[in-house]
Amino acid sequence: MSVTIFEHPLIKHKITLLRDINTGTRDFRTLIEEIATLMGYEALRDLPLEYVELDTPICRTVQPVVSGKKLAIVPILRAGLGMVNGILALVPSARVGHIGLYRDEVTHEPCEYYCKLPENLEKRTIIVLDPMLATGGSAVDAVNLIKKRGGSSIKFMSIIAAPEGLKRLSEAHPDIMIYCGHLDEGLNENCYIVPGLGDAGDRIFGTK
Ligand code: PRP
Ligand code: URA
Repeated sequence: MSVTIFEHPLIKHKITLLRDINTGTRDFRTLIEEIATLMGYEALRDLPLEYVELDTPICRTVQPVVSGKKLAIVPILRAGLGMVNGILALVPSARVGHIGLYRDEVTHEPCEYYCKLPENLEKRTIIVLDPMLATGGSAVDAVNLIKKRGGSSIKFMSIIAAPEGLKRLSEAHPDIMIYCGHLDEGLNENCYIVPGLGDAGDRIFGTK
């Protein structure tokens, strides 16, 4: 099992701004994207390299480039969409799949409504994106869907996690790598993260 909780001051600072109820939609979107880039930089540090031969103005040389092993980014709709451009800024040629899940308002369990993933998942490193890991139900289901379609090299990135969700995800999928921007106190009676930032999807898309 591999869990990384970020300690970088820039990530901490930007998450504090995200939490603020006075942060409006435009700034909220920008911050989600920026945090995704900062987290992605770390989460991609094990990308495989290969060596290519080239000429500098001085001489012929052999140098590293990121290898052809294909990367797939899979946001969980809706809120995960907010993180996509932040990761694409680092790996512009990554493929993008989508998994649509919403939490039932009463049971808080995820309901699937969409799944479209790139081909050859078994050959790809897959980065699942969702800013919120609350009960962990959505994350567990998303990884189940990816594994059912052949994916096995999986990283999960969330900006804010509750201990309950982190436990559920790491127990259900001990083989994946999990990255969290911050581990919060827990969940309230409505399964919202405390102190959290409210409903990430609504804040990204301005729907409330
Ligand atoms: C939010 C969030 C996660 C999920 C986390 O999505 O973006 O997908 O809740 O909760 P869980 O860990 O308890 O499953 P939501 O279901 O509100 O849908 P939305 O992104 O469309 O608003
Ligand atoms: N989904 C959110 O958007 N926020 C929470 O706190 C929990 C689930």
